[in-house]
Amino acid sequence: MPQGTLTSSDHPQASTVPIQIPPLSQPTSVQLSLVVPTYNEASSICSLIRQLCAHLDKILPGAYELIVVDDNSPDYTAKVAQELQEEFPQLQVICRDHERGLATAVLRGWQAARGEVLGVMDGDLQHPPEIVLKLWPAIQEGVDLVVGSRYAESGGVSHWNLGRRLVSRGAQWIGLMLLPGVFRRVSDPLSGLFLVRRQAIAGIPLSPKGYKLLVEVLARGRVRTIAEVGYIFQERQNGESKIQLQTCLQYLHHLIALRFSLGQVGSFLRFSVVGLSGTFVDMTLLYLFHDPNNLGWDLAISKLIASEVAILNNFLWNDLWTFRHVTRLQPGLWNRLQRLVKFNVICLIGLLLNSLLLILLSERLGIHYLLANLIAIGIVVFWNFYLNAKLSWRVAAPRSDAHGSQS
Ligand code: GDD
Ligand code: MN
Repeated sequence: MPQGTLTSSDHPQASTVPIQIPPLSQPTSVQLSLVVPTYNEASSICSLIRQLCAHLDKILPGAYELIVVDDNSPDYTAKVAQELQEEFPQLQVICRDHERGLATAVLRGWQAARGEVLGVMDGDLQHPPEIVLKLWPAIQEGVDLVVGSRYAESGGVSHWNLGRRLVSRGAQWIGLMLLPGVFRRVSDPLSGLFLVRRQAIAGIPLSPKGYKLLVEVLARGRVRTIAEVGYIFQERQNGESKIQLQTCLQYLHHLIALRFSLGQVGSFLRFSVVGLSGTFVDMTLLYLFHDPNNLGWDLAISKLIASEVAILNNFLWNDLWTFRHVTRLQPGLWNRLQRLVKFNVICLIGLLLNSLLLILLSERLGIHYLLANLIAIGIVVFWNFYLNAKLSWRVAAPRSDAHGSQS
């Protein structure tokens, strides 16, 4: 086995156990350790390593290392990478035999790293290697984390169709619902291209699931200051993406696990509970107003009043309970009145959206009207939560790097 090659037995933990990155035990001449996770990237790994070394030699001569972490790819990516080690002594190759998974592969690489700054870049050339020339200066300015972003200035994706863009945005949206304090910190929290200072994560148990290590780092790390660098996510030239349905489920699992482990039930769950109480108020009042055995009022009027009272009910609980961490910072009757007006308008639009979706799903798509209503309500709850969290109970401070990320 070539020198600098490790196997997974050097790092015996299973991926279900949290992984910790050690602090530096002695001064190091390595400033940057860049990990490249690979699975079946034999066709691009050589070109990537050559390009990376050419660029890094210019800005960090003799002061960086590259670490390829391969999960025993059937196309022998690890072997192909190992063959480059003679030419590039700054290259390490780690081959894991019994573990799979992008995020844990990167952490394994970081565990073996010697650098002060730890980084990750995909192995399939979809992250343009020359972007290191922009990422490194950003770190040098002193920030804890620099993220390559598809959504920052001069960033983008190559030729994604609408479906792919929607899936990507949808994933980001779900993240915003479940972990607003994490996802609002950067424009591209799902990026797999970033550099982070070792001291921002050293000693912290990390348990990412699936692909999205940056979310884990933002949520658990001591990341106070962040910079972003726009880049264009390239089309894949060789091989194929390893994203599967399982990757999407792991993503959801990861977000939910983080939500719970950050120690809050989460404003979204509270918001949903309040929503249920509102439904109860709405139903009861509708029955009282409209039923012929009670007041026997007109259905539309009964529904309107019932909904409005339910909205007021929901507002009060949300203001006093769901978003109490925000309302504490914005006391006074005038502030509350403003929140009430915004909440009311958003919910009324939500009601309209609910009806439109109901009609669309049941009449156009032929879904049973009760199921269609349930789906419509589900979607509108997200709509209501998202807009209200953004507009009605917005934390007044700008997206700030000085705050802790755990909200
Ligand atoms: N070691 C290892 N083990 N590497 C893996 C595994 C694994 O189980 N799964 C994927 N990789 C490697 C791939 O070989 C590639 O180098 C990189 O991780 C990204 O995987 P892709 O399958 O190519 O992902 P993508 O093209 O859909 O990109 C998405 O994920 C990237 C990584 O987080 C996008 O969201 C990108 O923005 C993001 O950078
Ligand atoms: Mn890729």
